[in-house]
Amino acid sequence: MLSRRFFTILSLASATFGHPSPEQVDVAVVGAGLSGLAAAQKLLDSGKTVAVIEARDRVGGRVENQKLKNGGVTELGAAFVGPTQDRVLALADELKLATFKEYNQGYDLAFVGAQRLNYSADSPSPPLDPTTVQQIVEIIGKTDQLAATIDVENPWNSPNATAWDSITLQDWAYETLTTIVSREAFEISVESIWSGTSQQLSFLYALAYVAGAGNSTNKGTFERLILTTDGGQESRIVGGTGLLPENLADKIGRDKITFSNPVRSITQTKSGGYLVRGDSKSFLARNVIVAMSPPVAGLIEYNPPVSIKRQNLMKRMFMGNEGKMNAIYKTPFWRAQNLSGQVQSTTGTVRATFDDSPADGSYGAILGFIEASQMKALNNATEAEIRKLVQEDYVRYFGPEAADAEEWVLVRWDLEEYSRGGPTALAGPGTLSKFGAALRKADGGIHWAGTEASDFWQGYMDGAIRSGERAAEEILAQGQGGLGWRWGAGKDF
Ligand SMILES: Cc1cc2nc3c(=O)[nH]c(=O)nc-3n(C[C@H](O)[C@H](O)[C@H](O)COP(=O)(O)OP(=O)(O)OC[C@H]3O[C@@H](n4cnc5c(N)ncnc54)[C@H](O)[C@@H]3O)c2cc1C
Ligand SMILES: *[C@@H]1O[C@H](CO)[C@@H](O)[C@H](O)[C@H]1NC(C)=O
Ligand SMILES: *[C@@H]1O[C@H](CO)[C@@H](O)[C@H](O)[C@H]1NC(C)=O
Ligand SMILES: *[C@@H]1O[C@H](CO)[C@@H](O)[C@H](O)[C@H]1NC(C)=O
Ligand SMILES: *[C@@H]1O[C@H](CO)[C@@H](O)[C@H](O)[C@H]1NC(C)=O
Ligand SMILES: *[C@@H]1O[C@H](CO)[C@@H](O)[C@H](O)[C@H]1NC(C)=O
Repeated sequence: MLSRRFFTILSLASATFGHPSPEQVDVAVVGAGLSGLAAAQKLLDSGKTVAVIEARDRVGGRVENQKLKNGGVTELGAAFVGPTQDRVLALADELKLATFKEYNQGYDLAFVGAQRLNYSADSPSPPLDPTTVQQIVEIIGKTDQLAATIDVENPWNSPNATAWDSITLQDWAYETLTTIVSREAFEISVESIWSGTSQQLSFLYALAYVAGAGNSTNKGTFERLILTTDGGQESRIVGGTGLLPENLADKIGRDKITFSNPVRSITQTKSGGYLVRGDSKSFLARNVIVAMSPPVAGLIEYNPPVSIKRQNLMKRMFMGNEGKMNAIYKTPFWRAQNLSGQVQSTTGTVRATFDDSPADGSYGAILGFIEASQMKALNNATEAEIRKLVQEDYVRYFGPEAADAEEWVLVRWDLEEYSRGGPTALAGPGTLSKFGAALRKADGGIHWAGTEASDFWQGYMDGAIRSGERAAEEILAQGQGGLGWRWGAGKDF
């Protein structure tokens, strides 16, 4: 066969570079996070040959389970799923993973400086002064109203896109929020959604994100981003979200995935395919799906370079600065005090917490996010130093029992070489209106996945799956694979 002969020639060519011969596939999927795995599954189901190429020694990317000393499991990355997240819920179903409701009974706590306020987990706002409460209600209403005008497919085509992209979320919000406490409360919500500050984010970017927090029949709202009941934090996966990518990888077949093989360059060949060069193994593919955040995708070298718009997008988007500290206890002791485990605080290293105990409540866990400026401020801190600060916060929030954790699990997503932060890539002013269209627009045979490239639930596991499926569909829509294109037809090297 032609291809076999070509393979021999290729082996010789690639031997020059000290690499084993590239294997040939229809599609190379770079990244084995949920977006890459979802893309691979769809392509394999349609009969394509696929290689998934992963830098780490595991699947899942920003989704990862870790075993605990007590025999349980904790989630280092994504934890929650909720209504309108149709694709991640369908995947859980398909993989026979059960969901359970996030614990949401008793009082939530708000700490405003030294002041401690409790309020029903079902009420939208803590009992702050009336002006502050009114301003918080107003800003949420206004955000939802403007988000409803956004076309989630093309936020950059909104009539006011340029104006909205020339200001920050904070510029816009502070016109309505005039009290110190309303501004502080807003900031806690913003940072727990994005792990970025309201000053960092473009208003257009924020509106597009809110608009995407829904599905085609339920418009996105700010409430759905922040709420537990009826919101993005409503449910969890029994056994941990890490089972989503792990079980999907088993289903796809782990022989389709090469691990510990970071891709360094993607080079177009003369026959129109791509040489996808990894550290330990390279592939020749007709199409490539790059399935990761734009900033991380920007670390790969593209020959020839991708579009100027795409280059700008990858350079300008940046990852949230995020860490997560999970404290593991013998029991969920706060429940006995009629506390939900949910805290919002205007001070501290951890300013937002959730009950992170397993479905059966057989032990207790509190998860805390270390976000934005708080994470940056601890850039050089040791794990012990960070733990001490978080322990002080948890004692302040839940009482002295909170000091007696059996285990503290810290993850610094900002220091992970192949994530560079989390939960998602952010955009400041002047990015989306100019370069946003490059989030999803293929560059020749290079297609872009990763949660940031989703219309709905960008930034979330659901968006990751949607983006992967969309990228796969783009390739499948090109018709019969191989038509008019043959390995070996071109003189690639
Ligand atoms: C702390 C935290 C909390 C979160 N909470 C939630 C939540 O509650 N609910 C929710 O839905 N989402 C949450 N998220 C977001 C969610 O985890 C992500 O949206 C989703 O996992 C992104 O999937 P992805 O496939 O787009 O990207 P990733 O998971 O980042 O996958 C990209 C993959 O590409 C690999 N890679 C990178 N560079 C290369 C290279 N050069 N060559 C080969 N491979 C490479 C990476 O190792 C990685 O495996 C959270 C994230 C974090 C960090
Ligand atoms: C959208 O979300 C709602 C609420 O979760 C759900 O009932 C519906 O099936 C979802 N999907 C679509 C396409 O409407
Ligand atoms: C527990 O908290 C809820 C508020 O969510 C409150 O309505 C209820 O009365 C409290 N129960 C007790 C026993 O204090
Ligand atoms: C809630 O706040 C009220 C009023 O300050 C206080 O009396 C009550 O003890 C608090 N309850 C809890 C569980 O913190
Ligand atoms: C869009 O901008 C125009 C003028 O620049 C303004 O009149 C209009 O109210 C804006 N629309 C929205 C929805 O903000
Ligand atoms: C961390 O250390 C580097 C170099 O050691 C220094 O330049 C930087 O300012 C430090 N950052 C913080 C937040 O202390």
